[in-house]
Amino acid sequence: MTSTLWTRLQDPNSAVKALVARDADGAIRGFCHYFLHPNTWGTAPICYLEDLFTDPAARGQGVGRALIDRLVALGREHGWGRVYWHTQETNATARRLYDSVTDGADGFVRYVIRL
Ligand SMILES: CC(C)(COP(=O)(O)OP(=O)(O)OC[C@H]1O[C@@H](n2cnc3c(N)ncnc32)[C@H](O)[C@@H]1OP(=O)(O)O)[C@@H](O)C(=O)NCCC(=O)NCCS
Repeated sequence: MTSTLWTRLQDPNSAVKALVARDADGAIRGFCHYFLHPNTWGTAPICYLEDLFTDPAARGQGVGRALIDRLVALGREHGWGRVYWHTQETNATARRLYDSVTDGADGFVRYVIRL
């Protein structure tokens, strides 16, 4: 995406933040939700990227990559320890992007007990 305008949506009463990618006309082309949490192994806050979604009409144009890059840049600016996220094992499209912006999945496996 050659021209991206960024909006950080920040309700002071909510821990959940959003980063929105807009095109040159101001139309929203993608977003991600994230929040910071403490880390028991260090003092820097950790960023959990909750979800990432891009406009189906704008896919494959670098919007998803740009959102991750922007979040990482924010993290560097603010001293976060890391940015991490989950995806479904079968989400091949998302994993292509994630494999290209990281060193690959880090080997952790998620377990859930639904309450
Ligand atoms: C996953 C998703 C966010 C990717 O967004 P995107 O804006 O299309 O991603 P990008 O254009 O930045 O793609 C970057 C890389 O991902 C890969 N990629 C993305 N879409 C692809 C496609 N349709 N075919 C092949 N590779 C693709 C490529 O490796 C691409 O690298 P390149 O630019 O060097 O070719 C988007 O497909 C989406 O919103 N999917 C539905 C929701 C979802 O599954 N979210 C992830 C949940 S964890």
